[in-house]
Amino acid sequence: MATNPTFQLFSSSNDNSSNGSSLGLGFLDSPEPPRPLPPPPVEVLSSEHVSSSVKFAVEKVAIGELTLLKGRVNTKDVFGLPNSDLVPGVYEGGLKLWEGSIDLVKILEKEVHNGNLPFSGKRVLELGCGHGLPGIYSCLKNADAVHFQDFNAEVLRCLTIPNLNANLSEKSASASTSGSSEVRFFSGDWSAVHQLLPHINDGENNINGGKASGYDIILMAETIYSISGQQSLYGLIKKCLACPNGVVYMAAKKYYFGVGGGTRQFLSMIERDGVLASTLVSEITDGSSNVREVWKLSYK
Ligand SMILES: C[S@@+](CC[C@H](N)C(=O)[O-])C[C@H]1O[C@@H](n2cnc3c(N)ncnc32)[C@H](O)[C@@H]1O
Repeated sequence: MATNPTFQLFSSSNDNSSNGSSLGLGFLDSPEPPRPLPPPPVEVLSSEHVSSSVKFAVEKVAIGELTLLKGRVNTKDVFGLPNSDLVPGVYEGGLKLWEGSIDLVKILEKEVHNGNLPFSGKRVLELGCGHGLPGIYSCLKNADAVHFQDFNAEVLRCLTIPNLNANLSEKSASASTSGSSEVRFFSGDWSAVHQLLPHINDGENNINGGKASGYDIILMAETIYSISGQQSLYGLIKKCLACPNGVVYMAAKKYYFGVGGGTRQFLSMIERDGVLASTLVSEITDGSSNVREVWKLSYK
């Protein structure tokens, strides 16, 4: 494990090891090293035990008018790794809160406020969830089902599930309701996790009980940093997105220094494929990182 190169992606939100302002440039445009075999896909149950050596501290995140809760855990406690943004193929960055997930929640809140995005009755999938704040937001807005996916089962167990529980208990304390969404958690590589996901798009003609198969809303933040992962991620989206009305909200940087991915390559791959159309929903140039964007994808 010690031989795996670690990357600092420029840059994440002010979380544990974030120190990206000058890091990562040494890897600029260098070819990605071979990745180890990915872990097999697994469903993680919310009742699964977390080792008592993993300390979870809750803190508030202000997102516009909204406040959500997030945990903080140490990469060393969970993976035995020194603090690093990610170790390709081993740990893919899910323990940090990245700026894109905040951008995404802000946009979702705006879309809900404008009546463009009703969550009620919808099946939501958050890909590369890490902390899972966009998925948690969907639960708070009473989506029918919210399924969370991360590369690492440990991230789901030690962070996503406790985060969801913290936010749902806060909500039930303040509004005397508890979460009504069906929530499930899946770990694994994007090339294989569809084997476990309950809602796969079986084609335009597959309508069950009046509802198209697949997920109505797919959310993802900061998932397209690596060019090598983009193809399998896009393949997974096409397998899972309900046709013809499913939508994807994607928050990402225009360019990821050090690892070479970004919105341009991902969107040009989509354009070449010709199945989905993309619309820019928001561009964020607040100077805290390179340009960030939120895109909406839907069937043509
Ligand atoms: C940079 S983190 C972003 C986490 C979170 N969305 C956020 O914005 O805070 C990238 C996420 O994508 C997931 N991921 C990266 N490559 C993956 C792959 N090949 N298969 C499955 N998940 C992957 C990681 O587990 C991680 O949660």
